Amino acid sequence: MATGLMKTIGAGELSTADIDHEVTLAGWISRRRDHGGVIFVDLRDSTGIVQVVLNPEDAPASEEVLHGLRLEYCVQVIGTVRARPEGTTNDDLATGAVEVVASRLNVLSESDVLPFQLDDRVEVDEALRLQYRYLDMRRSRMSENLRARSQAIRAMRHVMDEEGFLEVETPTLIASTPEGARDMLVPSRLRKGNFYALPQSPQLFKQLLMIGGVERYYQVAKCYRDEDFRADRQIEFTQLDFEGSFWGQEDVLEVLDKVARRVVHDLRGTTIEGDFTRLTYAEAMSRYGSDKPDLRFGMELVDLSDVFASTGFKAFAGVLESGGAVQAINAGALGLARSGLDAQVSRAQELGAKGLVWMVVQEGGTVRSPVAKFLSDEEIQAIVVALDASEGDTLLIVADRLRVVRNVLGQLRLDLGKPDNNDELAFAFIVDFPVFEVDEDGKLSPAHHPFTSPANIEEMINTPETAISKSYDLVLNGTELGSGSVRIHDADVQAKVFEVMNISAEDAEHRFGWFLEALRYGTPPHAGFAIGIDRFVSILRNEPNIREIIPFPKTQTGADPLTGSPSRVEDDQLAELGIEIRTSVLDAWAEREEDSQQQ
Ligand code: AMO
Ligand code: AMP
Repeated sequence: MATGLMKTIGAGELSTADIDHEVTLAGWISRRRDHGGVIFVDLRDSTGIVQVVLNPEDAPASEEVLHGLRLEYCVQVIGTVRARPEGTTNDDLATGAVEVVASRLNVLSESDVLPFQLDDRVEVDEALRLQYRYLDMRRSRMSENLRARSQAIRAMRHVMDEEGFLEVETPTLIASTPEGARDMLVPSRLRKGNFYALPQSPQLFKQLLMIGGVERYYQVAKCYRDEDFRADRQIEFTQLDFEGSFWGQEDVLEVLDKVARRVVHDLRGTTIEGDFTRLTYAEAMSRYGSDKPDLRFGMELVDLSDVFASTGFKAFAGVLESGGAVQAINAGALGLARSGLDAQVSRAQELGAKGLVWMVVQEGGTVRSPVAKFLSDEEIQAIVVALDASEGDTLLIVADRLRVVRNVLGQLRLDLGKPDNNDELAFAFIVDFPVFEVDEDGKLSPAHHPFTSPANIEEMINTPETAISKSYDLVLNGTELGSGSVRIHDADVQAKVFEVMNISAEDAEHRFGWFLEALRYGTPPHAGFAIGIDRFVSILRNEPNIREIIPFPKTQTGADPLTGSPSRVEDDQLAELGIEIRTSVLDAWAEREEDSQQQ
């Protein structure tokens, strides 16, 4: 590390090469052993840990100071590096072959008693960790995650720079744009009653940059979406956002491929072999029941509709007659007892299935199943063959509307499938997404944002439910890492798309007339992408929640236990903004909170 005047080297950087050198260290006391005589402390700084020997006979400080040292005191040590005496080297520590014998110790600042132990082996309640994030960060889990995050961003910038992209900042106080999530709003003091929105992404600004002739843009961009929290969702997160002109899908995927490989290389020190898997949306849905398939294991969905075409089993016959599907997965040798199999049935029902049929394959290709008696030998035989099943395998079958079947089996697949190796990385490009998602009631909503180019405008107008768009995702181990698309660069096409999306011409003009106008001044064809940096780093670090990758995240309920946000503000501040909070609103809200806490 580049040291300042207070230290000459990082604690974690010391090695046998430094033996007999005088060094000045500065950091925190992370462990101390004081039995009244010689005191041993582990000194930790951002580079690592080294053992320091404080012998009162050398008088590095007064006895009072030496015996008064407590955990997390911030100290400076001047001393000489020596090899640890034989038998006392510590292989668990990178610097375990050496120690520093102190000739001088200065206490830079003392520490109160800690709210929790900063020992990596001690589990600490997350609320407490977040309230004292600045202490949590002194532990290796967080400090390594912060380092990994920095490495990832550096790797991304490196590729972007090599590829000739210009880093451009776009505003975070903007007009509300339609990107699918709820906007975060900021009231304006100068124009009372008006609001800025925080960007859900820099989408329209990056398109304006293309119209502005930038040709290659990128940004490490903060995005804000007022969404419900999940393990991979925060209301505030960071994207690597990029866009290129005179570009199509393949140009984007090529750069994306380079970025992903470089980040993996820099964080994991490994090289990804071979091409990323590429699946169309339709293939991903039919083989894995998901548009973000986890490709670390097989367990693909198999259609059994033909097998049951003329079945006497009423539950399945009924579903097929009404246009539904019967599909199954071979979950392998689960070895579940009856109760475990019943738990799968309950899980399927929770996920929206009417039922689940399980079968355990026995010797000779017969099956054990509650419905075996309703099925013919030929049917059972055909199922075993279709699922390539062998003795001991558990087969799970669902009959329902196709969307339900896929959702349920896709989820059971994730519940039951296990990667062979926890460090495996399975990247996939998913291409040819539909223009629209069709919900339960047949209502259409844009699958990506409405600036995405349909593959064919006529198709989009005539058969919107099945129309394909020029959009694509990058998936890693079953998580959507990022999305992008080829954009509409023609104002008339954009107007048509709004029309099909039920955004009226007046509404479109009113909300983004400025953007429609911009499209009329020689817009180049352009395409781009955004990677969720928090998600990418959390997967590479094997962290279960993106909070572990964010220096100061919010809790599940959107609160920051450290600073107390969100918080009430002074009446004066509200008055300046022309905002008044009605007590009736607050009372109703408080009442609802109380109810939900009692439940
Ligand atoms: P999209 O909305 O798909 O596309 O977002 C891109 C990626 O951003 C990450 N992400 C999130 N990460 C954490 N918390 C969230 N709440 C959250 N929401 C999204 C995901 C996601 O894949 N402007 C378009 C991109 C484009 O078309 O160029 C966009 O934002 O990893
Ligand atoms: P039933 O004839 O409705 O009593 O169902 C007999 C068995 O078939 C039960 O084990 C149900 O869980 C199962 N089952 C019923 N409907 C479905 C369905 N739609 N998909 C899968 N299994 C089902």
